[in-house]
Amino acid sequence: MSTTENQTNQLLAAEVKIPQHIAIIMDGNGRWAQLIGKKRVAGHKAGVESVKTTVASAAKHGVKALTLFAFSSENWQRPASEVSVLMDLFMFVLTREVKRLHKNGIRFNVIGDLSKFSNKLQKMIKQSEALTANNTGMVLSVAANYGGRWDITHAAKKLAEQVSNQEISIDDITEASLNSHTSLSELPALDLLIRTGGDYRISNFLLWQAAYAELYFTDVLWPDFNEEELTKAITVFDQRERRFGKTGEQVNNNN
Ligand code: IPE
Ligand code: IPE
Ligand code: MG
Repeated sequence: MSTTENQTNQLLAAEVKIPQHIAIIMDGNGRWAQLIGKKRVAGHKAGVESVKTTVASAAKHGVKALTLFAFSSENWQRPASEVSVLMDLFMFVLTREVKRLHKNGIRFNVIGDLSKFSNKLQKMIKQSEALTANNTGMVLSVAANYGGRWDITHAAKKLAEQVSNQEISIDDITEASLNSHTSLSELPALDLLIRTGGDYRISNFLLWQAAYAELYFTDVLWPDFNEEELTKAITVFDQRERRFGKTGEQVNNNN
């Protein structure tokens, strides 16, 4: 048995609190490639392997939902050639990997403004979501052309439409009703937000959903992220005291 497997199994056996919902800002692909004298896109390709390993490891730990930031609403500003490789890669991965996800009982889902993607890609996303819709295992959400500000604005628009159609009144606009129109609202609350690649920022990811998530930053570049690194993050999460505004004493006395 490898060291990694050993560590994971120890964690599984111990009374470790497993985050129900983990989100990851998968950063550092370009730098990973440049460090070994390759083009940035080689890093994106290598990053796909980390995605596969992380999905399998998270499922093994019993994580209920895993949300991965694949392409931000700001990433369109990159050179057209890099954007195009990312789109092709997305399509390729969908074609090749969704069947495997389905076989493993994973429900696949894409969040973000999909209207900017090609019709072919949009169709493929819909088919992948439909294929896995009734699966009861981990929910894997991929954020593509996603922005936290877009998500909140989109939810606000939905509520405004309902007010304008007289389906609800202004008093019905609450945190809960706005939440119900944001992405991932049907999933357990976000417990742990991981960012790889050494930067300490959210980059417009899950702004609303991360309100009380534990934040974990690592210098590891995304293509080097693996089961061992995920296990490390979960171990750190287990050691955090989540107070949600209460005092430490209240939390420890369960009131
Ligand atoms: C993250 O890696 C992947 C995407 C944003 C698509 P980067 O491409 O941002 O890699 P760095 O941060 O430049 O190293
Ligand atoms: C965030 O990474 C987006 C994804 C990982 C998909 P970026 O590399 O785009 O973030 P910034 O530009 O450094 O903030
Ligand atoms: Mg980056």
